[in-house]
Amino acid sequence: MKILGIETSCDETAAAVLETKGKSIKILSNVVSSQIKIHKKYGGVVPEVAARKHAEVIFEVVAKALTDANNANKMRMPRTKSNTNKIDLIAVTYGPGLVTSLRVGVLAAQSIAGLKNIPLVGVNHIEAHLLSPLLPRHCERSGAERGNLVIPHQVRDDGGLFPALGLIVSGGHTELVLMRDFGKYKLIGETRDDAVGEAFDKVAKMLNLGYPGGPAISKQVSKWKKQDTRNKIQDLPRPMMNTKNFDFSFSGLKTATLYLTKKLSKKELKKMTPAICQEFQNAVIDVLIHKTKKAAEKYKVKSILVGGGVSANKELRSMLRSMLRNKNIYLPDLEYTGDNAAMIAFAGWQKYKKTRKDEVLRIKAEPNLKI
Ligand code: KG4
Ligand code: ZN
Repeated sequence: MKILGIETSCDETAAAVLETKGKSIKILSNVVSSQIKIHKKYGGVVPEVAARKHAEVIFEVVAKALTDANNANKMRMPRTKSNTNKIDLIAVTYGPGLVTSLRVGVLAAQSIAGLKNIPLVGVNHIEAHLLSPLLPRHCERSGAERGNLVIPHQVRDDGGLFPALGLIVSGGHTELVLMRDFGKYKLIGETRDDAVGEAFDKVAKMLNLGYPGGPAISKQVSKWKKQDTRNKIQDLPRPMMNTKNFDFSFSGLKTATLYLTKKLSKKELKKMTPAICQEFQNAVIDVLIHKTKKAAEKYKVKSILVGGGVSANKELRSMLRSMLRNKNIYLPDLEYTGDNAAMIAFAGWQKYKKTRKDEVLRIKAEPNLKI
């Protein structure tokens, strides 16, 4: 079965083709057209600009994903006449996200599905991030590129996976989700104000580091390590770290960082920026790890799945691996930490296996969709 995934919830226009045979899956293509350069000059995503750009490139991106998938198959099976353009299912993000951006993807998916008579399923973007650690690397980057036969990736044995704890750390969401099975989720904690990625972006903005903030702050942290440790600054708070629930709050940490910067002269701020980034990042990681660990113990989960843009953070990844050593912890390949359509295709396939329902006429963009 071949599944075409389409994603346009924020500022990435993405399409991917995933092939499944039983439990084995391959990512035949994974195309992401990022608008970061466009939004950089505004210091954040401008919804009207994002939607217009999605509309401009969506069909190009889908066409490239189909061509790449065809080429990946030709590389794997040079002598067979492949019919890779035959798509059996389309999966599209219908929420949460920017409503005008979501509409472009939904409309494009409905058009292709309607014209080609292919079933269509709507995917929750958060669920797709939750499942992204289960994706294999895509063919072009693994076997095929080295001229080897691509070894199909086995989706990890479901028996050992659930109940699982999902930690979502993205630009719009910070959530802990109890996962009993594919499609059976319960939200057990969420942020009461800023999402963790949003906090990275806002702190980066106040330190004049540009957009997106996560990678910029990470870069400063790596600079700090090489620097004189006498540049140590005061500790920043770890909000809600010791509360009994599993909710988060990052706006107080952001404000504390702002007050700290206000006390410094321009020259001092420049000198102390790596140290501030280091302390801010440490505070975020401490809270995330502490709450995740507590939730994993309370719900006696068999595994922990982490997804979303902030899961690209090197220190967060290594701290999660070492602090939760005795748990099965799954982190997405760096290719799938940010918004992409491979994760949409995968989540759509899981949904279609259960429901077998074509939603082509029912789907509409739901900007506030919950898990
Ligand atoms: O999941 P994502 O691509 O989009 C949403 O669905 O929101 O997440 C984007 C967020 C941005 O806030 C960005 O600053 C953050 O992920 N991010 C990072 C890193 N790379 C991206 N945050 C911390 N460290 C990183 N290396
Ligand atoms: Zn996302």
